[in-house]
Amino acid sequence: MQYNTSMANKPLVGILMGSDSDLSVMQEAAKVLEEFGIGSEVHTLSAHRTPEAVVEYVKKSEASGYKVFICGAGGAAHLAGVVAAHTALPVIGVPIMNKTTAGVDALFSTVQMPPGIPVATVAINGAKNAGILAAQIIGTEHSNILQNVRTYKEKMAKDILAKDAKLQEKGFKKYLEEKGLI
Ligand code: RP5
Repeated sequence: MQYNTSMANKPLVGILMGSDSDLSVMQEAAKVLEEFGIGSEVHTLSAHRTPEAVVEYVKKSEASGYKVFICGAGGAAHLAGVVAAHTALPVIGVPIMNKTTAGVDALFSTVQMPPGIPVATVAINGAKNAGILAAQIIGTEHSNILQNVRTYKEKMAKDILAKDAKLQEKGFKKYLEEKGLI
């Protein structure tokens, strides 16, 4: 799979998360952006624990030419909303799963923004889709990035069709057996 990675050096996406405990989920956004050749910066900054630092970072990154913010937070997840309040750039929110409420609290906090301050909310722990969505937004301006997204989708389609061909050939029982699932 050949991606054009000519834009990898200048960060265009700010990936923020409320805590380093969110990083194992949020790394998926950084990884897919890296795959598409889009530079990003990853920070732990919290709407509640470091409110001033969040605003400072958003203002600084907006001025330096960032295109999109991706914000992950769990529990009473206000990070994406606070970032959206301080920028005109698109903000993608990733609700992070926790043990007590399985991330539903974060999903509601992130998705239920008041009219006028949208946050494009992906699934609970949906950091990979947040990265892909950021690439698609950047792709509206940069045809090489849009082509990378197309290449990614084409590969995904090929993989699924190859799996289907194998399923037809083997039958579902043998297929599952070979995957060690029965
Ligand atoms: C939120 O509180 C963070 O985004 C994290 O998901 C959650 C728990 O944070 P830690 O106590 O693990 O630092 O602000």
